[in-house]
Amino acid sequence: MRVLSGIQPTGRFHWGNWFGAVRQYITLQGNEQSYYFIADLHALTTIHEAARLRELTREAAIDLLALGLDPAQATLFRQSDVPEVTELTWLLMTMTQMSLLEKCHAYKDKKAKGLTADAGLFTYPVLMAADILLYGSEVVPVGSDQIQHIEVTRDLAQRFNSQYGEVFHLPEPHVLEETARVPGIDGEKMSKSYGNVIEIFLPEKKLRKTIMKIKTDSTPVEEPKDPETCSVFTLYRLFSTPEQQEALAARYRAGGMGYGEAKQELFEAAMEYFADARTRRAELEARPDTVEDILQAGARTARERGRQVLNQAKQACGLNVIASPAT
Ligand code: ADP
Ligand code: TRP
Repeated sequence: MRVLSGIQPTGRFHWGNWFGAVRQYITLQGNEQSYYFIADLHALTTIHEAARLRELTREAAIDLLALGLDPAQATLFRQSDVPEVTELTWLLMTMTQMSLLEKCHAYKDKKAKGLTADAGLFTYPVLMAADILLYGSEVVPVGSDQIQHIEVTRDLAQRFNSQYGEVFHLPEPHVLEETARVPGIDGEKMSKSYGNVIEIFLPEKKLRKTIMKIKTDSTPVEEPKDPETCSVFTLYRLFSTPEQQEALAARYRAGGMGYGEAKQELFEAAMEYFADARTRRAELEARPDTVEDILQAGARTARERGRQVLNQAKQACGLNVIASPAT
């Protein structure tokens, strides 16, 4: 099974990204082939500061490796290191109805808010389709918000195949666990765009401070509390065993425990959960060349595979294929 997914480096990764996406990348990485990439070209539709994009891309690579992405099992690369993907985007663009893109939510939502969208945002799903089709991906682990884009991908692949012959494999979405709709510190869905995130690798003190900011109700310390309606408890669940959850739930229900104590429990559980990843991250941070080597080796593997599919697509639609350009 060929697995592929991409994640945008538009901010540092947070608990929602881990439980909702990255954790599954790691679980799936043992498959015959898995490709994971940092979607820096997609991020260009929101970040226009060069130094920031470069830094976030670097941090994303380190974070993914620290969290357990293993280059011996999966190919990790920067999207922009595989220029074949933008070439394929153009071929697919000529197969794309405007009306199909007008229905896509990233563009539609922005327009509905009265904001002006650029052509990059409008055609974002075509680049995503190229990401997927270029490597003959079979399974694409994504959050439910991305299913529409997989449908666009299938639609474009079908159109191309019926016009020019079977070139592209039709991918299936692998929808990531819904249980992982991780709440942010305000109780809404954790998201960079809502400014309510808890970043995975915050320094210990900052992490504690952020956890202490999680919104709770004003039930006095001595009164019983309902764990089921409390974001602190919802988050604690992600990091703990059923026994630990039961123990903390009992303290909620008994009364006499303030939310501060529950937050301290959450802080300790999260520190323990990510302890190994933090250690690995510190090691990787000290070896920037290793990280860069991993990304470049990943790009070489991805390009090799990508070029085969691109050449087939070019040939199929009547374009010339240049003999093996240097990588
Ligand atoms: P953000 O909303 O912070 O911008 P992204 O849209 O870049 O995050 O999400 C990257 C991946 O992380 C997606 O696959 C998405 O499904 C997952 N994800 C993001 N936030 C959450 C969350 N709060 N709960 C579960 N999964 C999430
Ligand atoms: N658009 C995806 C997101 O915002 C990121 C992405 C880009 C992606 N290309 C992809 C995901 C290809 C899966 C496959 O989450």
